[in-house]
Amino acid sequence: MWLPLVVTAVWAMLPAYVPNNAAAIGGGGRAIDGGRRWGDRRLLGDGKTWRGTAIGTLAGVGLAAVLNLVAAQVSSVGSVTVPPFPPEAAVGLAAGAMAGDIAASFLKRRSGRERGASFPVLDQLDFVAGALVAVYLLAPGWAAATFTPTVIATVVVVTPLLHLATNVIGYQLGVKAEPW
Ligand code: CTP
Ligand code: MG
Repeated sequence: MWLPLVVTAVWAMLPAYVPNNAAAIGGGGRAIDGGRRWGDRRLLGDGKTWRGTAIGTLAGVGLAAVLNLVAAQVSSVGSVTVPPFPPEAAVGLAAGAMAGDIAASFLKRRSGRERGASFPVLDQLDFVAGALVAVYLLAPGWAAATFTPTVIATVVVVTPLLHLATNVIGYQLGVKAEPW
């Protein structure tokens, strides 16, 4: 049955999913790169701000704390046991997602893409890669137990679909400039 796998994968990635959306809503102000350029291109661009990064990270950690309150109840509903998030895992997932997104902007600027330009695959998986690397570094035991190869494969398939859906909604609500 694939449903428990999808539930586990989405649950474990939720603290990495919200940071991008929270940053899009709460972002603005000073750019992380301070306007600096490398050659004739910005380092990161005005789409990566200190405030957005802080708000995104806090939103992801905050969501993990809320999920911890309901993990036991959710697990008791069906056959799926969803894990609570230790603090290091919450921080790894949230901050890692933001770092992955920032790294992607760096690659976008280096490859000549302007702010907001789409970069298929990278746009959908940058924060997944960042979150997984960070959570394996900060909470290795929890990460190995939670993100098994099967769960990671499920995350890689399901995330782009969810990401696309939420970005289209964000675009329609007017909080995102482009639907990707
Ligand atoms: N945002 C932010 N800080 C971040 C990430 C996002 O302030 N670390 C905000 C910015 O207002 C950004 C919006 O969220 O414009 C949407 O994020 P994203 O699509 O990642 O940025 P883009 O503006 O598309 O820029 P880029 O091409 O660099 O991805
Ligand atoms: Mg964008």
